[in-house]
Order: sequence, then structure tokens, then C-alpha cells
Amino acid sequence: MKTIIKTIVVSALLIAVGAVAYVYSGLHDVSASAPHSDLSNWATSTTMRASIKRRAKDILVPDLNDDALVRAGVNDFEAMCVGCHGAPGKARGPAGKGLNPQAPDLREVAQQRTPAELFWVTKHGIRMTGMPAWGATHEDASLWPVVALMVALPELDVNSYGELLAGAAGHGHHATDSAQRSAPPHEDGEPAIEHVEEVLEEPTNNEPEHDHSTHQH
Ligand code: HEC
Repeated sequence: MKTIIKTIVVSALLIAVGAVAYVYSGLHDVSASAPHSDLSNWATSTTMRASIKRRAKDILVPDLNDDALVRAGVNDFEAMCVGCHGAPGKARGPAGKGLNPQAPDLREVAQQRTPAELFWVTKHGIRMTGMPAWGATHEDASLWPVVALMVALPELDVNSYGELLAGAAGHGHHATDSAQRSAPPHEDGEPAIEHVEEVLEEPTNNEPEHDHSTHQH
């Protein structure tokens, strides 16, 4: 019995020492250009899915079936997400093409996740991937329009996405960016910025409201 315990303890120690030696050895390839193994793909994506599901389950979702929210969302989506994720008819940008893991096509993701899960990921990001926590710089009310757009995304093709974008000038907190891209300025020279908070009727979730003044780009 004693020898069995001894063997287990010695083996555990050897494994621990081996693991630490591997960490310091530089043998592990951290490059984004090398593919992940099937095992690490399975482990990380399963962990991610379960984590998102558990954390999103108490989020209160406002009514997202609102054209004004979707219009605000498409401008914000263009400014904040398309470079990595792409959009109908739009390829990922250079940074997005070099990411590992790749930022997925959100038309597919939107069909697999609930709106609460989409919101949670957008707000909190995914650690050790390129997916940023947009909640660090945006209050909840500025993120729900992007979620409304993601929910509408599976129904949009190149043409309808383009039409939505063209009709969205002046909407969303990135209205200025899109106004510069596609629309003439407002009468006073400033593009109209819609306050999406007015569109949201329900409390967005049970976390405390953020101060608008902390919203920065
Ligand atoms: C700098 C690149 C980058 C930007 C910008 C970015 N993302 Fe991501 N996003 C990623 C990556 C990479 C992943 C994949 C993470 C993974 O699968 O491990 C991801 C994953 C996601 C997922 C989860 C996918 C899933 O399988 O559940 C959602 C939802 C998402 N992003 C939404 C957004 C939204 C909305 C925006 C804009 C507000 C955005 N992302 C901007 C890189 C980015």
C-alpha cells in the first residue's frame, strides 16, 4: 500500500515538474499562424459555449424587434465588428484575416445563440481570443442595437444589408462615422445622433447602469 502511494506521489511530482519545464522550454508554439489541435479546439470551444450559456441566463432582453434599433445597430456593427467578423458581401479586414481562432460569421452564430448570449459575449468579450469586451467602453444601451442587428442578420443578404446601411445614416452612436462614409451632414453641420436609450423600453439587465461620460472611443 505504502509503495503504491509513494509511486502516485512521485508520478504526480514528475508530471508537475515536467509541466513547469514545458512552460519554460519555449517548445509550445504560440503563433497565430499555427493551427490548434483538435483536442484544444474541442476543449476551448466547449468551455466557451458552456461559460457563455451559464453567464447569460439571467440577462433581461429588451424588445429587439424594432427597426430603429436595427438601424442604429448596423452603423455600430460596421464601425465595431465588421473588420473582424465580416458582413453580408463584406470580407473580414486584414486584422480579422490573421486571427486565430477566426472571428466567426455572425449570421451563423446568431442562429445558434440566444439574444442574451449574443449580448453577453459582446459586452464581456472572450479572453485569449481577439474578441474584445465592448462593455469596457460602452454602456449596455449602446450594445443592444448591435444585438438587434445580429438577430436580424440571418435574414439579410448583400442587397438588403446594403439597403439597411444606406437608410441608417444618423442612427446609432457611431452615426458620425457612417455619416462621414455615406451621408450628407445634418443642417447644422453635425450628423444627427439618435439616443438609443429612448428606444429601449425595458431595463436592459440587472447590472448597474454605467455613466454616459465614461463612454469613450
Ligand atoms: C478584433 C477582432 C474582433 C472584433 C472587432 C469583434 N470580434 Fe467578435 N469575435 C472575435 C473572435 C476572434 C471570436 C471567436 C472567439 C472564439 O471562437 O474563441 C469572436 C466571437 C464573437 C461571438 C461569439 C461567437 C460564438 O461562437 O458564440 C460574438 C457573438 C461576437 N464575436 C460578436 C461581436 C460583435 C457584436 C462585435 C462588434 C461589437 C465583435 N464581435 C467584434 C473577434 C472580434
